Amino acid sequence: MSVKELITVPDDILREISEPINKVEVNEKKLIKDLFETMYYHNGIGLAAVQVGILKRVIVLDVSKNENEKKPLCFINPEIKKLGKEMSTYEEGCLSIPNTFIEIERPEVCTVSYIDENGDKKEMECDGLLSTCLQHEINHLDGKLIIDYLSKIKKDLLIKKLSKQKTSNRVIV
Ligand code: NI
Repeated sequence: MSVKELITVPDDILREISEPINKVEVNEKKLIKDLFETMYYHNGIGLAAVQVGILKRVIVLDVSKNENEKKPLCFINPEIKKLGKEMSTYEEGCLSIPNTFIEIERPEVCTVSYIDENGDKKEMECDGLLSTCLQHEINHLDGKLIIDYLSKIKKDLLIKKLSKQKTSNRVIV
């Protein structure tokens, strides 16, 4: 198990479409463990495999508030089956977009089908924060980011700023 390096905007890999997983075997299980470890290390509540550079349809989540009561959830090949009509709004951040929070309105309830880490087919109805996070992470699997919910002008400005931040850490001595 290991903490993986996070891929951040504007890396093009974040725009790729991730591939479904056919079978959950040793490599997939290792990937899931690494994703959990990386997510917890960075204090995130969700992470998609593409964010560590692996184009597989796997996401991990933990939206539990209590540090001592972890509720790790893993979704392989998640697919939204139903979206509720009611909407809810959260200020969303993303481990691939440092120091950025964007208000996004999404359906409050969603039903998702997926395969769990044992390879079993499942379906779950989610609401509240879990629903929002799940939709955010499934967006990642399709190359979509929270900045895509902004106007083009705001989005371009933000990408410019983030690109500068990235290089400003470089030191040449
Ligand atoms: Ni994200």
